[in-house]
Amino acid sequence: MPSIEALDAEAEAILRGNDRGGYTVPTDGLYPYQWNWDSMFAAWGFAAFDIERAWDEIDSLFSGQWPNGMVPHILFHRPDPSYFPGPDVWGTDGMGPIASSGISQPPVAASFAKKVFDQNPKVGRARLPALLPKMKAWHRWFLEARAHDGAICITHPWESGRDNAPDWDGAMAAIDPEGVGSYERRDLTHVDAAMRPTKADYDRYIWLVQRGRRLGWDESALAENRPFMVADPTMTFTLLRSNRDLAELADMLGEDRSEIDAWTQALEHGAATLWNESLGSYDSRDAVSGEWSGAISNASFLCWWAGIDKPAMLQQLDRICTAAPFAVASYDPGGPKFDAKRYWRGPVWGMINSLIGIGLEDCGHIDAANRLCETTRGLIEKSGFAEYFDPIDGSPAGGSRFTWTAAIWLGWASPNARRI
Ligand code: DGY
Repeated sequence: MPSIEALDAEAEAILRGNDRGGYTVPTDGLYPYQWNWDSMFAAWGFAAFDIERAWDEIDSLFSGQWPNGMVPHILFHRPDPSYFPGPDVWGTDGMGPIASSGISQPPVAASFAKKVFDQNPKVGRARLPALLPKMKAWHRWFLEARAHDGAICITHPWESGRDNAPDWDGAMAAIDPEGVGSYERRDLTHVDAAMRPTKADYDRYIWLVQRGRRLGWDESALAENRPFMVADPTMTFTLLRSNRDLAELADMLGEDRSEIDAWTQALEHGAATLWNESLGSYDSRDAVSGEWSGAISNASFLCWWAGIDKPAMLQQLDRICTAAPFAVASYDPGGPKFDAKRYWRGPVWGMINSLIGIGLEDCGHIDAANRLCETTRGLIEKSGFAEYFDPIDGSPAGGSRFTWTAAIWLGWASPNARRI
């Protein structure tokens, strides 16, 4: 097993190696562009050894913000034929300052900006003022374009970041991807097909992109008869936490926080609407059909990250960690759709673990937080900086030398992490 010092050095080398000059790719090959939430984990990782570079990462993400406030989930800084679907498929020309996708991703930017700020407040005071209004505009966009009774919805599975989670199965099954045409996937040239979404998933992913393109990515046109809209714990909990962090950042700069506080109240209400009493867990709900997904996922446990302490979730966490010891499985190991290696249908994701662990600690569940941190550390010691891991045997899966796994090591899982 490599030493902790060797892993610290490797994590730093991964971030430097995936740095493309001001922005970081999630991993070489499989994901050759800047992804929204991956990039904010990267900023947290950089903050451990290069504070200015951490702020550069956040700046580069917001350099792609659309005039309506939306921050895209992918920024296509430079053409790269090894990825599909690229800018030619999205058809967002002229919508934003940089070629991009037409959807967003979980808003963790303000939360990681706060962590980067806390690492070095002097530098933070110089770098934050230009970013604060941009973050505020993004949060406002979520409340205006994605809220359903206060819960934040996704309009494409890629928007959640949990692409093929069982949460979306019902809403995806209701889509007939007629006319999607033929296309060539590139992800399968990098990773085993058994670890990736299926063709049925991809047909619907691409069909939804084609609909957006046809409607010129106009939010009001897209909102009419939406074929896919699911209220999502990932979005709701991350925005709630980011919003609380944004309010604190506004305080630090002496700015008015009243609008942000009003969003927090709306989001607290929205988070409560995601409690599925019959499941005994936070869950996703199809905003078109009103149906619960019935899925306990790792996103269900982001409640603590959002500052919501729900005792029943501690029992669910214990049960899931016992059933699949390399916790936290992305989908209930006792559930009918569990698949230990297939992306978001079972594998454990270190970056979600970091959010759950920090949330548990913030809510005073210190033992549970420490256990999760040690489990994650053990996974990385055993299997390296993989994209995700099998939760039953801890083996690595997906891409390797992964930015966010390296970042959470530096920010949280390494015994040497400052854990700001
Ligand atoms: C992919 O291409 O797999 C991404 O998750 C889309 O964001």
